[in-house]
This record gives sequence, structure tokens and C-alpha cells, in this order.
Amino acid sequence: MQDKYRLINFKILGDKRGSLISLEQNKNIPFEIKRVYYIYGNSENIRRGFHAHKKLQQVAICINGSCEIMIDNGKEKEIVILNSPNKGLLIQNMIWREMYNFSEDCILMVLADDFYDESDYIRNYEEFKEGVK
Ligand code: TYD
Repeated sequence: MQDKYRLINFKILGDKRGSLISLEQNKNIPFEIKRVYYIYGNSENIRRGFHAHKKLQQVAICINGSCEIMIDNGKEKEIVILNSPNKGLLIQNMIWREMYNFSEDCILMVLADDFYDESDYIRNYEEFKEGVK
């Protein structure tokens, strides 16, 4: 994995009552968090994503269930399985992503360093390939 995407292992604060994970901006999340969204109730065999961002940084955490994320830097592709609430995938700008193999109970929570802005999306793969050159 490279700087533009990496797995972050969150510390589990667990005791006999159960587990707790704390996410803090500029600490275990390496940016200021401006937005949180989550994806759940996915239909069977769907794929989502199919875009890169010009500037946005995100951390994706599967807080329940599991899913896979294919990340592509324009040269190499890598598949990351998110199947634990203590794992986060940092995805920085100019990385193409596709999410799939969502378990029925999957809740994929995403932390982002900016508000939703459609003009920050690159939704055309050829345009993405040109952009990373
Ligand atoms: P979409 O980009 O299709 O999701 P994915 O990347 O998972 O395939 O987003 C679905 C819709 O939700 C689309 O109309 C844009 C909108 N949206 C927001 O309004 N705010 C957000 O923070 C996000 C992520 C999406």
C-alpha cells in the first residue's frame, strides 16, 4: 500500500462490557472531519463508487458486517476487505474506488475532510487516468 491509501488500525477500548472505539480528528483520523455519511441496506450484488476525488480525503470504516473496496491509483489496483470496526481505510485524492460484496448487515461509515461537492468528483475513468499522469 502507498501513502495515498492505507489501513489504519484503531485501538479497541474493550473490557468485559464490550468494545469502544474513539475517532478523533488529527489524531487517529489524519485530517479535520467535516462530514460523516454511511451506506447501508445495500441490494445484493451491487457495486458503488466508480469515482475519484480531486481533493477530498476520506476514511472508510465498516462498523458492521463487511465489504470490499477496490482501490486504483491509475497504475495498480488493490482489493481491501473491510470486516472489522477497528479497521479504517484512508483514501486520499486521485484514487479510483469501487465498493462491492456488501454483507446484508454492512454499515459502511465514511469520514470526509470536506462537505459534499459534486465538482470534486471525477466520475469518468479515462478522465481519472489522464488526471493521475
Ligand atoms: P453516490 O456518489 O452515487 O454514492 P457512491 O459513491 O456510494 O456510489 O451518491 C448517491 C447520492 O447521494 C448522489 O445523488 C449524491 C448524494 N450524496 C450527497 O448528497 N451527500 C454526500 O455526502 C454523498 C456521499 C452523496
